[in-house]
Amino acid sequence: MIIAPSVLGANFGRLAREVSRVNASGAEWVHLDIMDGHFVPNISFGPAVVQTLRPLSKLFFDAHLMCSKPEILLEPFARAGANQIDIHVELGEAVTPLLWKIRSLGCKAGLVINPPTSIALVAPYLEEIDFLLIMTVNPGFGGQSFIHEMLPKIQKAQAWRRERGLDFKIGVDGGVDFKTVAECARAGADTFISGSTLFGRPNLNAAVRKMRKAAEAAVGQAGVAAPAGPEPAGARKAN
Ligand code: DX5
Ligand code: ZN
Repeated sequence: MIIAPSVLGANFGRLAREVSRVNASGAEWVHLDIMDGHFVPNISFGPAVVQTLRPLSKLFFDAHLMCSKPEILLEPFARAGANQIDIHVELGEAVTPLLWKIRSLGCKAGLVINPPTSIALVAPYLEEIDFLLIMTVNPGFGGQSFIHEMLPKIQKAQAWRRERGLDFKIGVDGGVDFKTVAECARAGADTFISGSTLFGRPNLNAAVRKMRKAAEAAVGQAGVAAPAGPEPAGARKAN
């Protein structure tokens, strides 16, 4: 299980201190939401900010590019210290060359899918990615409500991963709180991006612990009880 606090939920007025909080929280990743004001109706921050934060943390930096032209940003973010770069499947035929480029820069490659997009669109790329990120809100803003209709996508991705013997991670992003994290874990997610829920707590360490516990308990319960859920018990991969 990977817990990834999303910096978008942090206090931008004291970003360095917020990253120190993440370092001490027990989280594995730092999720960095990059918005260009075109692919999504909001602007966040760019490579210069990532470069400033890089020396402050040894954690895995996951850069989620919500950008129409990621091709001009891959090198800057790789140079700034991103360990993984995630691009959107909605970019169509640009996806394959972008994934190759990300790898050639020495980064892990992630693919992201928006709520209205059919999960079938990611199927051709599963062999080429380290991370599949399923948006559980429409991207652009933190603090939105989890879209429950996305749960079957997680189940489908998990089924494909198992059937094809692949090991990409399955993440969820948007509206992930202490309750929805359990639903996502039960559906097959192993990586949980969370902004407002985690940073909204005065004690980030306790919040990360609580979120991890909720995710682990959900998977444990599912394995024991084997309810008539959409997935067979025992088929779930322990992460
Ligand atoms: C949404 C971003 C998310 C966002 C999640 O556009 O991709 O990473 O920060 O924030 P919360 O957890 O507040 O929904
Ligand atoms: Zn994100």
